[in-house]
Amino acid sequence: MIVVTGATGALNGATVEHLLERLPADRIGISARDTAKAQHFADRGVRVRQGSYEDPDALRDSFAGADQVLLVSGNDPSADMVALHRNAIEAAVAAGARRILYTSQQGVATDGPYPPAAIHAATEEILADSGVGWTSLRYGFFGHSFAPLLGPWQETGVIAAPADGPVPWTAPADLSEATAVLLTGERSYDGAITLIAGEAVTLDDFAAIASGLSGRTIERVVMDDEEWVADQTAGGVPEPTARFMLTMFRATRAGHFAQHDPLLAELLGREPRGVADRLAEQTGY
Ligand SMILES: NC(=O)c1ccc[n+]([C@@H]2O[C@H](COP(=O)([O-])OP(=O)(O)OC[C@H]3O[C@@H](n4cnc5c(N)ncnc54)[C@H](OP(=O)(O)O)[C@@H]3O)[C@@H](O)[C@H]2O)c1
Repeated sequence: MIVVTGATGALNGATVEHLLERLPADRIGISARDTAKAQHFADRGVRVRQGSYEDPDALRDSFAGADQVLLVSGNDPSADMVALHRNAIEAAVAAGARRILYTSQQGVATDGPYPPAAIHAATEEILADSGVGWTSLRYGFFGHSFAPLLGPWQETGVIAAPADGPVPWTAPADLSEATAVLLTGERSYDGAITLIAGEAVTLDDFAAIASGLSGRTIERVVMDDEEWVADQTAGGVPEPTARFMLTMFRATRAGHFAQHDPLLAELLGREPRGVADRLAEQTGY
């Protein structure tokens, strides 16, 4: 049995959909904070049990019988995420899982401008000490929507944002599919693996792509960091959210995400979706 946390969310919910295409439903389990949110999976024969990273007893019960457990990474800035991830890893070990998979992110580092990188680094250390097989899935940035990154360029003709660097923006649908391939495949990958799209792009590249899609010249304007934060908050973005995004710009321009890795394409058996295709879909061009 494969048990998945975070399946009431976008990413691992899509991974469960891919698992359902590959496995009988009774070999899939979901550990959900609110089981009502996973009713659509229960209706299709998936085992749904209550579990949250704050409650180790419930987690153990929801992981019972799992050969592999897929753990979502939490993203609550007010919580001690490393401690919560430790709860989840310990519960998976106690439940007898042979392998734990964890949704990490590329650019893992013990320090640096982007705070989640250190949370993933600490979680990977706990996985390495867990005594069971583990695979840390260092996903590329998804960009469920590119709108917060690019701003209202369709109205203004300008992508105005802080200085940036290359990022291999990766379609979450590709990551979910590849994760299902990993969970159901013959081969196990030990340790951290990087799953990213083939092309790392900057906002200059986005401006060129947006120009091509819209048929007009979209300009890239580099803003001062603090001016950009002020601009965002004036537009209604909460300041902590703007400051968090700023850490991402700082990390990208320091080259923290400028990696290449062919593994995602290998697992999918095709090239991952690129940003031009995704931006066209998101904007209707
Ligand atoms: N690579 C990237 O670009 C990128 C970007 C953003 C986030 N991420 C990471 O990827 C993760 C998944 O992304 P997503 O888009 O699927 O997020 P999402 O739609 O917000 O889903 C998050 C899932 O995690 C569950 N969850 C959150 N805290 C939990 C806890 N304490 N105990 C148990 N379950 C918990 C949520 O449960 P409920 O339904 O009960 O809330 C939900 O199912 C994020 O949490 C974040 O760590 C990566």
